[in-house]
Amino acid sequence: MQQFDVVIVGAGAAGLFCAGVAGQKGLKVLLIDHGEKVAEKIRISGGGRCNFTNLDVSSANFLSENPRFAKSALSRYTPRDFLALLGRHQIAFHEKHKGQLFCDRSAEDIITLLLAECATGGVTRWQPCSVNAVRYSDAAPSGEDGTSTATSTSTSASGRYEVDTSLGTVSARALVIATGGLSIPKIGATDLGYRIAKQFALPLVETRPALVPLTFDEAAWAPFAQLSGLSLPVEIATGGKKDSTRFREDLLFTHRGLSGPGVLQISSYWQAGTGIRLNLSPDTDVASFLQTAKASSRKRVANELSSLLPARLADAWVAHSTAAGGSAERPINEAPDKVLNLLAERIARWEITPTGTEGYRKAEVTAGGVDTLALSGQTLESRQPGLYFIGEVVDVTGWLGGYNFQWAWASGFACAQGL
Ligand code: FDA
Repeated sequence: MQQFDVVIVGAGAAGLFCAGVAGQKGLKVLLIDHGEKVAEKIRISGGGRCNFTNLDVSSANFLSENPRFAKSALSRYTPRDFLALLGRHQIAFHEKHKGQLFCDRSAEDIITLLLAECATGGVTRWQPCSVNAVRYSDAAPSGEDGTSTATSTSTSASGRYEVDTSLGTVSARALVIATGGLSIPKIGATDLGYRIAKQFALPLVETRPALVPLTFDEAAWAPFAQLSGLSLPVEIATGGKKDSTRFREDLLFTHRGLSGPGVLQISSYWQAGTGIRLNLSPDTDVASFLQTAKASSRKRVANELSSLLPARLADAWVAHSTAAGGSAERPINEAPDKVLNLLAERIARWEITPTGTEGYRKAEVTAGGVDTLALSGQTLESRQPGLYFIGEVVDVTGWLGGYNFQWAWASGFACAQGL
């Protein structure tokens, strides 16, 4: 049986990064993934350019049952640290929007960087290789041939893990689970990480798709389906008065519902059965705008509105309020104030209740996961000695905007320090 210091399962963002850092500490690392290729999610991220971090990261940009959990790891490996690494690999990048950093060339640059860091650390990689079973034995290790040259063995395990894989059984004093979440199963997402947590009696926070488009009942959505493809900046909110969450981002109409950055952000906070509220013209007081137009214009109401909103949307909202008895299909100077105010209200506060989401098939991430109560915020080691969880498999979910990769780097780094 081959012996390693550490076996890491999952060669995605967190697993690759952790493997490189641990290998460069002198640890003998085996990295396993069941996919043919590493890091498929990095490859498709950010439209192929990978939004690899954000200039402004704090634990406030993450959801978790324990919102402060991510703080320690995030403070010990910051966006500046990752930018320094990019600098060493001469990878060019740019800021796109709200601190979001993307590769100039391609997401492949990040994958190449991670593989180079693993090579420098002498990491052994087995792919495609699946995990059949994991066992922990408290007994003292036997035949420690070829193990660590590192002096630090800070993991609290006294026993060893045996991992039965499709390429044979291996043994290590630490096991790191970096298998990610459940989103996009067609590129390799599985529930292995959660199953291993359960095997060792570690608690889980229920998982759900997050950063995901919202869907509506077909009949209720029919009037809006014609707006598919239309995009505009909005303010979007969910939750009650005390716990409301809001974002200012773009909204995209689709055939089945709503998408775009604003909707993806709010989807992580949306609770099934509750509504969302949208201000379709967040920079303008629509009621005053319509009153001013009424005093000086004879154009149709929809024509006036089209200087505030995309024309198709203005038409649809006027038709909508007409259908609701508002009768706004007329020159604006003839429209009663009551009708204009109702229309303004519907633009500034469109309330709608999604029936669901597009699910893991389309979700960028999985919210929930291994409960942070069972993990050390310093090292990501679980209360099962020598067993670590990093990246998306943990109940730490970032906003859209590079936060999920920053969590992968930071949690991978914190774990490698503890190994
Ligand atoms: P990740 O999913 O990267 O890796 C898990 C690895 O484990 C995979 O290689 C998988 O094959 C392997 N694995 C799973 N089950 C296994 C098993 N049973 N046996 C062996 N191996 C197994 N984030 C961000 O910050 N900026 C962005 O631009 C984007 N963009 C984006 C676009 C799209 C389309 C998606 C789906 C996601 C994003 N994300 C993102 C989110 C980001 O990709 C995600 O949070 C990180 O990749 C999580 O890193 P992990 O290493 O935890 O999991």
